[in-house]
Amino acid sequence: IKKIGVLTSGGDSPGMNAAIRSVVRTCAYHNIECAGIYRGFEGLIEGDFKLMDARSVKGIINKGGTILKTARSKEFRTKEGRQKAFDKLNQAEIEGLVVVGGDGSFNGAMILNKEFGFPVMGIPGTIDNDIVGTTHTLGFDTALNTVVDAIDKIRDTASSHNRLFFIEVMGRDVGHIALNAGIAGGAEEILIPEEDLGLDRLVESLKRSRKSGKSSSIVIVAEGDKIGKNIFELKDYVDENMEGYDVRVSVLGHMQRGGSPSCFDRVLASRMGVKAVESLLEGKSNYMVGLQNGKMELTHLDNAIKGKTKINLELLRVSDIMST
Ligand code: F6P
Repeated sequence: IKKIGVLTSGGDSPGMNAAIRSVVRTCAYHNIECAGIYRGFEGLIEGDFKLMDARSVKGIINKGGTILKTARSKEFRTKEGRQKAFDKLNQAEIEGLVVVGGDGSFNGAMILNKEFGFPVMGIPGTIDNDIVGTTHTLGFDTALNTVVDAIDKIRDTASSHNRLFFIEVMGRDVGHIALNAGIAGGAEEILIPEEDLGLDRLVESLKRSRKSGKSSSIVIVAEGDKIGKNIFELKDYVDENMEGYDVRVSVLGHMQRGGSPSCFDRVLASRMGVKAVESLLEGKSNYMVGLQNGKMELTHLDNAIKGKTKINLELLRVSDIMST
């Protein structure tokens, strides 16, 4: 391999820039060229590439977002779109591709590999932490810190006014952000898609905590939770079924995806970039790099996306005990 391409795709996450920097510099270290591909698979189809040398990625390790931009490409889902992408890769003499993104992005990489035998390597970049084969996806740790910071601030006003706050955090299908940030932020209850607490039990629990002397409370709600009501309906339900609590809602939204990556995410991104490029150079393909037991390990892309990440049951128990 003499030239590797790198792209970021799907929802952005803090640490993507640090990963781009690592891929570019690992290529430079091994004296091969690196092409940055703009706007994910969209830019791949259009041939929107730019050669990147070691100096071109200076000053980005601490930046959120992705300098290569990101997109969700409809055209890449068609056979014609993928043929165009493959042609552009050939024209540019790119011989391997590093894809930084989540499950949708890995799906795209896998199809490229399946249809054209093109060497691909994935780096898991999503705040949701919903990829199998790594204990941490890039951006998860930063997002947790952002969410905990927000909960701390909301707690100040919640306790000043003796209010109950429902705080919605990201996590379309999984509750990793909610569960971890909820414990760290001292939440009374945490609603996640993996476990349906049920409305009655929620109200009972809030009543119990009221009786035990708590004057304000925080409930963390993952956006994909299965309680059957959206967060505003949840507020109305609790308003109707609980006397004397002043209830408010705060939806944190996309602020969770931005910001300077944490130390953990910068180190993780740097390690993943090195492992991804060196694995391609060793002739490996169709894998994702991940963190397992403190080490960089490879997982087949197929396994990385088809499995469902499991919620840590011990954390659920800790959360229950902490809200005693
Ligand atoms: O990055 C993953 C995620 O944060 C999900 O938790 C969320 O549902 C989704 O992205 C929203 O992304 P967008 O607004 O870009 O479609």
